[in-house]
Amino acid sequence: MSLLIAPSILAADFSNLQREVEMLNTSAADYIHVDIMDGVFVPNISFGIPVIEAIQRHAQKPLDVHLMIVNPDNYLEAFKNAGAAVISVHYEACTHLHRTLQAIHSLGAKAGVAINPHTPVELLSDVIQDVDLVCMMSVNPGFGGQKFIENTYSKVSRLKDLILAKGAATKIEIDGGVNLDNAPKLLAAGADVLVAGSFVFNSADPIQTINQLKSIEVV
Ligand code: DX5
Ligand code: ZN
Repeated sequence: MSLLIAPSILAADFSNLQREVEMLNTSAADYIHVDIMDGVFVPNISFGIPVIEAIQRHAQKPLDVHLMIVNPDNYLEAFKNAGAAVISVHYEACTHLHRTLQAIHSLGAKAGVAINPHTPVELLSDVIQDVDLVCMMSVNPGFGGQKFIENTYSKVSRLKDLILAKGAATKIEIDGGVNLDNAPKLLAAGADVLVAGSFVFNSADPIQTINQLKSIEVV
């Protein structure tokens, strides 16, 4: 099975957002990854709901919305209404994670859980059957263009084992520092979806770069 690719719009040229979204529409991308940062959960602020609505007006790919915010429950409906197909909340920001996942599902969206690099995958053991997607951070969240953390491979393998042991259908998404060097190893370890921001948008030919990521096979 080939990887699903989710280019992160955080690395796009915001002054030409429509053009960037239309470029992704013509590419082999499977999702558009949308990073929401509140300046509290992470030390950076990205953009908010009106910008997601603007992306959604032009997007022909489902929006994979990654909420790096505190109190995500207060905004789930707003993000769904803005066009989110997948809503990922951070494990570290949810006191009642099970309740939050139920709320996302009741809105008709796919429910994702993002985990920081220090958060063990085993903490998801009792909730994994309710999770459509684990967004595993392979950098500390808050910024694009950071260096991939090597410990991620072992976390992916352990999460894959957990998903299989529980008979869950959860997909594993890797977010941060993804490139053509680490992507084959991530696929081999059990990753299903790769987020790629700067590697795609800073390349000379983003469409070709997405194709290259998409055509990686297990060796
Ligand atoms: C980091 C964001 C990532 C980021 C990835 O906080 O969650 O989605 O946009 O960017 P790159 O691929 O440049 O590391
Ligand atoms: Zn992200």
